Amino acid sequence: MFNEIDLDKIDIDSGPPIEEPARQYYFIAKCREWVRRFCENYGRCPTASIQTFGCQMNARDSEKLLGILRQAGYDITEEESADFVLFNTCTVRDNANQRVYGRLGELKSLKKQNPAMKIALCGCMMQEPTVIEKLRASYRFVDLIFGTHNIFRFAELLCRTYEEQGMIVDIWEDTEQIVEDLPVERKYPFKSGINIMFGCNNFCSYCIVPYVRGRERSREPEDILREIRQLAAQGVAEVMLLGQNVNSYGRNLKKPINFAGLLREVEKIEGVERIRFMTSHPKDLSDELIEVMKESGKICRHLHLPLQSGSNRILERMNRRYTKEQYLALAQKIRQEIPDIAITTDIIVGFPGETMEDVEDTIDVIRQVRYDNAFTFIYSKRTGTPAAAMPDQVPEEQVREGFDRVLKVVQDTAREQVARYQGQVAKVLVEEINDHDESLLTGRMSNNTLVHFPGSPELIGRIVPVALEKCQGFYYMGRLLLETDG
Ligand code: 5AD
Ligand code: SF4
Repeated sequence: MFNEIDLDKIDIDSGPPIEEPARQYYFIAKCREWVRRFCENYGRCPTASIQTFGCQMNARDSEKLLGILRQAGYDITEEESADFVLFNTCTVRDNANQRVYGRLGELKSLKKQNPAMKIALCGCMMQEPTVIEKLRASYRFVDLIFGTHNIFRFAELLCRTYEEQGMIVDIWEDTEQIVEDLPVERKYPFKSGINIMFGCNNFCSYCIVPYVRGRERSREPEDILREIRQLAAQGVAEVMLLGQNVNSYGRNLKKPINFAGLLREVEKIEGVERIRFMTSHPKDLSDELIEVMKESGKICRHLHLPLQSGSNRILERMNRRYTKEQYLALAQKIRQEIPDIAITTDIIVGFPGETMEDVEDTIDVIRQVRYDNAFTFIYSKRTGTPAAAMPDQVPEEQVREGFDRVLKVVQDTAREQVARYQGQVAKVLVEEINDHDESLLTGRMSNNTLVHFPGSPELIGRIVPVALEKCQGFYYMGRLLLETDG
């Protein structure tokens, strides 16, 4: 266990161990020595910041990277002008890539003012060979580049930035390895993501994830449960199980267990009060899972069920492996079994060959399913995916029109859906002080809807009863009830 290791007792004068995670502990200890020298030379300790792009998976990876930096002795800051700046990138859509290039331009001038500054890049975008070529040619001031498969080696790579001059690039094509027991620095003390699997085997034709995150690999259930028990002992009340397709969890394990089975085990852990998970592929969502959700007192009343398109022709070209009818039947079954569930989704508009008629099919599903929220994306062509080579890319103007139509329907139905609980009392996990008004707290209902209400910051991390007084579109304004009122 990492918390049982005394890093100061590790002998860094002999060579590094071969096996993991001992090898990374060795390099963290070695980084500490470099950091100590930095403090002596500059009369202050080095600062580090991580900027995270993309999904929950990246957010969790950043917590692990921050854990290493903290153990190495860095002061963690949110400032981009830190001595060590790391961008954890996303490449699901091209606009995420463009933002990284834009921000790198800004970092270049910051580095001129602080020559001790080191700039590092990691994450999905780095798994693309064309990106690496571009960085090598035009962004020579970047010190370290690594990918998604060797992220567990961060301590070792960080050490190399002290020992070597010039740009260090280390990208792996794939890995079978899952390294446990590295340090983590959580953003919230009361809730945490937990990776249950890595990679994806689905190859939806528009999606770059299987190419940059590799094949699906599940963690052993014992490792997951041990991690959650530890988190619960540290005061974590809400856990979010993370995977690209949690419904296929366990398929490649020697001792088979499925996702429903894993949930049953997580449910038993004392101290865990809420269980969430992300993401569910509709084609793999089992009756057993619906049953487990229905019977559970801890699994949240929220299911994110990406639709992508409501047109059978487009679904087929997307390689989603379900039809509009199958999706609708599944949504109906879920609503019937768990009436208070909130269903959210992802939708892509402008996939190659999509007509306005296809968009109408998507809108039809939105109306029938009545999503509480839907993330609507404009199709982005990703080099190397089958869809990028499809000839009939949709003209921009038509995409815009379809997108606006979808968005309007999503907003109208979501407003109605979210408002269903107006006047009722909900249990809310208080997450933070409101961004815009310091007198308010912000928390989440079990169904993931946000609630803002007046209250004191000591309540952060607690689950409290709140009267849902007014629905404002996607969220509620509420009033805290005394525990005895609830
Ligand atoms: N273009 C637009 N949206 C995409 N997504 C994945 N790949 C693309 C792409 N090429 C969306 C899907 C997925 C979400 C995480 O991102 O809707 O569910
Ligand atoms: Fe991409 Fe499809 Fe895998 Fe999701 S299930 S990560 S959309 S390939």
